[in-house]
Amino acid sequence: MNSTRRITSTAAIAATVLLAGGLAGCSGGDDAGEGGGDGGGLEDSYTVATDTSFVPFEFQEEEGGEYVGFDIDIINEIADRVGFEIELETTNFDGIIPGMQTGTFDIAIAGMTITEERREAVDFTSPYYKSGLRIGVPADDDTITSIDDLEGKTIATRLGSTSANYIEENIEGATPNTYEQLDQAYLAVEGDGADAVLYDAPNVEYYILTAGEGKLKTVGELIEAQDYGIAVGKGNEELVTAMNESLAEMIDDGTYTEIFKEWFGEEPEWLDDLAASQD
Ligand code: ARG
Repeated sequence: MNSTRRITSTAAIAATVLLAGGLAGCSGGDDAGEGGGDGGGLEDSYTVATDTSFVPFEFQEEEGGEYVGFDIDIINEIADRVGFEIELETTNFDGIIPGMQTGTFDIAIAGMTITEERREAVDFTSPYYKSGLRIGVPADDDTITSIDDLEGKTIATRLGSTSANYIEENIEGATPNTYEQLDQAYLAVEGDGADAVLYDAPNVEYYILTAGEGKLKTVGELIEAQDYGIAVGKGNEELVTAMNESLAEMIDDGTYTEIFKEWFGEEPEWLDDLAASQD
């Protein structure tokens, strides 16, 4: 399903799930946008791709169908500061990079892990979120307690994700069941379709606090530290630089933490690490 929506970069967004209410920390945009020169220059407006469903980074509000989430607030704040309008497009996660390669999307924010393989297709900003993978199992399961217990098991995850790669490369004899929508993966584990789910820690944790409450639980340690970056089509170095400046600024001035608290209810414990990994 594809839907296109125009949002203004100053739109205040209300969270409806769990951490309800509140306005995103929108501080006024200071225009850093001076085009010209090499590296593509800066435009007034960019097409920004995001995924259809990745709580609490991007998802559709039940009422009104507006796309909301941590990623949406972060990209709006960056757009304000750099000085561009956003044309938001939603698509399945595995369609994002192909769409950037053909130039359909200029920018993508979708909890996307920075990987060397993806760097061949797109550029990334500095990290904007420190993540990792987590195992989820049915709440009443006590046979799987760590990653070692996943050997030979059927593991649900999302098509085209770093978790799907992880299962193939690191878990012996495991069968990855990959779905276009992660909701389907969670449903598979809740039914008989898979023994466990492996996916991004913040998503698994948030799901268990909300729709998956009482159905799933997490087990084991955080697996494989990952950084999320905002992807930018190749050949737009100036845009990447401008976005990196804004990101570093909002981490320094507390806006990043404000937005984070809206969605995760607490301050990021890895804020210093994140600040140190800015360009
Ligand atoms: N971080 C993982 C990856 O980059 C999963 C991201 C999923 N994001 C999403 N919007 N569905 O592969």
